[in-house]
Amino acid sequence: MRRKLVAGNWKMHGTLAENDALLSAVLAGMAGVRAQVAVCVPFPYLAQVQAKLAGSPIAWGAQNMSQHGKGAYTGEVSAAMLNDFGCTYVLVGHSERRAIYGETDQVVAEKYAAAQAAGLTPILCVGESLNEREECITEQVVGRQLDAVLGLCGVASLAKAVIAYEPVWAIGTGVTATPDQAQAVHAFIRGKIRALDAAVADDLVIQYGGSMKAGNAVELLTQPDIDGGLIGGAALIAADFLAICKAG
Ligand code: PGA
Repeated sequence: MRRKLVAGNWKMHGTLAENDALLSAVLAGMAGVRAQVAVCVPFPYLAQVQAKLAGSPIAWGAQNMSQHGKGAYTGEVSAAMLNDFGCTYVLVGHSERRAIYGETDQVVAEKYAAAQAAGLTPILCVGESLNEREECITEQVVGRQLDAVLGLCGVASLAKAVIAYEPVWAIGTGVTATPDQAQAVHAFIRGKIRALDAAVADDLVIQYGGSMKAGNAVELLTQPDIDGGLIGGAALIAADFLAICKAG
């Protein structure tokens, strides 16, 4: 039985004061939440979040990391550094990293491998652009993104990972994939993994991300292959985030 995972992706938002207020409100509302809850925060706030959430039911993580262990990589952050701040999760291959910072499938796979080597759980983000959906190549695109990781790390690595399906056209746009659209891609992903290893496929948590809100969370999270959400905008408002957590 897969436990749902609802993770906030704060992106480049927050201040010390805002984070404190947001986390206080979320912690205060956690009674009755059955899902695993996590927040992926900007690097400078990891110490704050660790201090605030240690011993609580909420896990935390980062939004990116270097594929390299250490060295002359100005501006980068390693997996070991994330471990120093108690991170459980790290997003790899978010579509904003792929599109704005040119992260290739190969680089994303290397980050995934480096995260796992350090004992972090990578949340591997995959998803197609609007053009790709209109060209009806969603499955090729998502399949190619998965193949990069499968080729480097093998299917067994997915026993210690999470996948987030995030159609790029639904991120931050207010346009959500319909439950059927999302379920179809989630089923494709699980089916692709099942063909390699049924047990891994059955246990794999596949989150949906892209304008998930309090108002659409239940219909998405009740789809058979949707095991949680990766939440951007709505994760910045405690009541909205909690409503999604409670839907999970
Ligand atoms: P959104 O972002 O919920 O604001 O669409 C999701 C994400 O980018 O992870």
